[in-house]
Amino acid sequence: MQNKHLVLGITGGIAAYKAAELVRLLVKAGIDVQVVMTAAACQFITPVTMQALSGKPVFIDMWDSSIGNGMPHIELSRVADAILIAPASADFIAKLAQGRADDLLSTLCLARGSDQKACPLLVAPAMNKQMWENPATQRNIQQLKLDQILVLGPDAGEQACGEIGLGRMLEPETLLALVNAHFTPKLLAGKRILITAGATLEMIDPVRAVTNLSSGKMGYSLAKVAHDMGAEVTLISGETSLTAPIGIRNIEAKSAANMYTAVMEHIITQDIFIAVAAVADYSPATSSEQKIKKNAAALTLELQRNKDILAEVAILPNAPFCVGFAAETEHLIEYASQKRSAKKLPLIVANLISESMGKDNANITLIDDAGTHALPFADKTTLAHEILVHISNMLAN
Ligand code: CTP
Repeated sequence: MQNKHLVLGITGGIAAYKAAELVRLLVKAGIDVQVVMTAAACQFITPVTMQALSGKPVFIDMWDSSIGNGMPHIELSRVADAILIAPASADFIAKLAQGRADDLLSTLCLARGSDQKACPLLVAPAMNKQMWENPATQRNIQQLKLDQILVLGPDAGEQACGEIGLGRMLEPETLLALVNAHFTPKLLAGKRILITAGATLEMIDPVRAVTNLSSGKMGYSLAKVAHDMGAEVTLISGETSLTAPIGIRNIEAKSAANMYTAVMEHIITQDIFIAVAAVADYSPATSSEQKIKKNAAALTLELQRNKDILAEVAILPNAPFCVGFAAETEHLIEYASQKRSAKKLPLIVANLISESMGKDNANITLIDDAGTHALPFADKTTLAHEILVHISNMLAN
């Protein structure tokens, strides 16, 4: 999202206080944010707060002559890559639906034209549930959708007035994710991707298990970015504390055996399979139904070999494009290359456990028929993006 220019329009509603956090997140993500507020919004939060967080003067007044030769509505809408209204009050949504232009924000929305590709308009409604459910608001929302305006939310839950229902503005983190998705080129449009993520959990008894230190961060980042790139994503999650990204199908499969079954059930329709999960190679030969008591001086656990999900998918007739991960403690390129040839994979992602497992950032190297491609040290979202661009290039060739 670096170098993207976003106009953030804030209208009058109690959720305006959340716009402060939203600006902070957008700026942190590298977006150039120009805040425009309505007079009503200034009753809820001050322009000074927004100026401090965005690092720019905030525009409110239609008659402000300081920008664009006295035509701020034209100037602001021409430089913006997108306009996001958050929160969008019922009144402002009505204005948009009717094409009214009686203040700076509504005028610049109208002045952006009707081409959603040139300057898309995204709207995050926030209002009391009765106001949301009112036929007038629903009619206006339908009109916005017909006009190709993207409506984000609202969410359901407890409202500032104490009532419970639909009408809450989406959380700032969710809005950031949706803006991010909006700006991401749709390199994987029309592709179906299956991703395994996290650690598997092999139960010894009802309270003990064999597992590993995988956090699921890489797999979840890949799922999110693949979705942002337009893919239809199915995520098969082992053990992780992460929340599944919005818009993807998440299937829980804690043990290696359950993960195998879930993958095989969904693999036929997939174009790409990315096996990120740290699947246990062995599981207890028997799992005790009752808690095992410490009666003996020593306990021997018998482990049996699990099926290799990735290897079995790769040899299916009409197998999808298969990508493996190799997490090693030594001889990284050698071991990862051996795994790639043993499992007959077009691409494997190699990483040293000390530099990746459980961390937010990682050092990774891609290995394919053309050789090794070391990626710069980066956060897992950036790496997910690089991996998926590489996959999309391989598929295109
Ligand atoms: N994998 C899998 N099913 C398994 C084991 C691994 O799908 N039962 C996948 C992982 O998701 C990863 C790759 O295979 O993409 C890892 O290869 P593997 O050789 O199994 O790695 P390790 O389990 O780490 O093997 P080793 O202990 O021999 O290094």
